[in-house]
Amino acid sequence: MSKRILVFSGAGVSAESGVKTFRDYDGLWENHRIEDVATPEAWNRNQKLVLDFYNQRRRQLNEVFPNEAHIAIAELEKNYQVDVVTQNVDDLHERAGSTKVVHLHGELKKARSTRDKSLIYNWEEDLNAGDKCELGSQLRPHIVWFGEALNQDFLLSAKNAAEQADICIIVGTSLLVFPAAEIPFYIQQNCKLFVIDPNANELNLPIKGKNVYLIPKKASEGMKEVVEWLRENE
Ligand code: OAD
Repeated sequence: MSKRILVFSGAGVSAESGVKTFRDYDGLWENHRIEDVATPEAWNRNQKLVLDFYNQRRRQLNEVFPNEAHIAIAELEKNYQVDVVTQNVDDLHERAGSTKVVHLHGELKKARSTRDKSLIYNWEEDLNAGDKCELGSQLRPHIVWFGEALNQDFLLSAKNAAEQADICIIVGTSLLVFPAAEIPFYIQQNCKLFVIDPNANELNLPIKGKNVYLIPKKASEGMKEVVEWLRENE
C-alpha cells in the first residue's frame, strides 16, 4: 500500500493564482469588512450585498488558474494516497487534478437552499434574489459563514485522514480559524510534517521535533522542495 498524505491548505495556496488571502492586508476582504459579507447577520441585513460579493468571487474564479503548488499537490496522487482538506472555497485543487478534496468552508460554485441545507446545487453563474430551491426558498451561497457550524461529516472524515496520515503538508494557512485549524492536530507524533508558508516560523504547529520541516516560502517553491524531499527520502 502506498503511504498516505494529508494536505491541509488555506488561502495562501491560491495566492499565486491571484486569489487574495484573508489576513495579509488591512483587515478587509476585497474591500469589505468580513462581518458585512460573511455572516448570517449580513445575509439577513442585506442579501443583495452578500449575493453580489460572492458573485464577484465566483466570477473571479473564471479568471484564475491553478498554480504550480496546486499542480504539484495533484501530482502526489501518482505515488501516494492523498487527501486534500482545504479551507478554500475556490475550485483550484480540483482543476489542478486532485480527486479527493474536502471543502471545510463550502464552495463558491455551489448554492444551497435557505430552508433545507441538504439541498445543494452546482452553480456556475451569478446567484440572484429570486433564485429558488425546489421547495421555493431563496438560494444562498454554499459557504460556511462566521458563526455557522461546519459540516460534521466533513470534519470527521478530515480528522480520520489526519489520524491516518504518514505525511502531512500544511500549506498557506494562518491556522487561526477554528474548528478547521484543529484538523492537523489529529496527526500522529511519527507523521512527517511539512509546513509551507512565508510565516511558517510563527505558526502554532501540531507537533514539534525532528519530523517537522518548516519551509518559509511561497506555496509553489515550497511544494517543489517537498516533492524533491519525498523523491529522495520516501
Ligand atoms: P489566512 O489569510 O488567515 O492565512 C493565509 C496564510 O497564507 C498566511 O499564513 C500567509 O502567510 C500565507 N501566505 C500568503 N501568501 C502565500 C503564498 N504565496 N504561499 C503560501 N502561503 C502564503 O487564510 P486561511 O488560513 O485560509 O473562512 O483562513 C482561514 C479561514 O478564515 C478562511 O477559510 C476563511 C477566513 O475567514 C471562511 O471564509 C469561512
